[in-house]
Amino acid sequence: MKAQPDSRPVGIIGGTGLTTLSGLEITGEQAVSTPWGEPSAPLVEGSLGDLPVVFLARHGNPHRIPPHQVNYRANLQALFDAGVRTVVGVNAVGGIHSDMGPAHVVVPDQLIDYTWGRASTFFEGELDAVTHIDFTFPYDQDARKVLLDAAAGQGIQCSDFGVYGATQGPRLETAAEIRRMERDGCDIVGMTGMPEAVLAAELGMRYVCLGLVVNWAAGKSDHTITMEEIKAAIDTGMSDVKLMLEQSMAG
Ligand code: HPA
Repeated sequence: MKAQPDSRPVGIIGGTGLTTLSGLEITGEQAVSTPWGEPSAPLVEGSLGDLPVVFLARHGNPHRIPPHQVNYRANLQALFDAGVRTVVGVNAVGGIHSDMGPAHVVVPDQLIDYTWGRASTFFEGELDAVTHIDFTFPYDQDARKVLLDAAAGQGIQCSDFGVYGATQGPRLETAAEIRRMERDGCDIVGMTGMPEAVLAAELGMRYVCLGLVVNWAAGKSDHTITMEEIKAAIDTGMSDVKLMLEQSMAG
């Protein structure tokens, strides 16, 4: 993430399979509070590669907060208040596109939001004016390129495109829902991509998604989805994710 204009830390939001970030040289940990409530976990400060980093476990540490109950506003506000202006959201996802099978890494370029009932804006309540932010390109192009260059430099197979379909969860989808999402143009499916991306945008932060495919989406394989296969894909693929994060912070 050399694109940082100053020495501001890069925020990393770790999802399923990334509750702690090995390789992070930890210098401090802070339990913080925001006007929106408390973030999922204390902010872990440190450095990765050559850059200062603030790490936040999206589902708490230990992993206990389901996707629809994450306080996304508190998470993003806490990172913003810690000085973060670039956020990497690491997300475990299901693969819909035929090239995006278990343990594959994707840096999506678009998203479709199917979530509902989540607190998904900072702009509500007693306001002086109505605000509609532009969200044409939900993921920061420069940060995407940094991650993709890191993957290429490490010989990691990583898709440089993809539409992330954000579903409500916590249940997985039906096969028909996945067929519909495929017709809509979704390549991967996950439960935490929104409202995280839009809240970062509302705060003026750059946001990029690093997706690790942990299972074929419902109906895309000859079997139903098991936690065992998800764990196996995390074990295989998370090392690539960590390597990409480390390399993208180097030099
Ligand atoms: N669907 C939704 N979210 C997910 C999946 C999935 O198949 N796999 C991991 N997160």
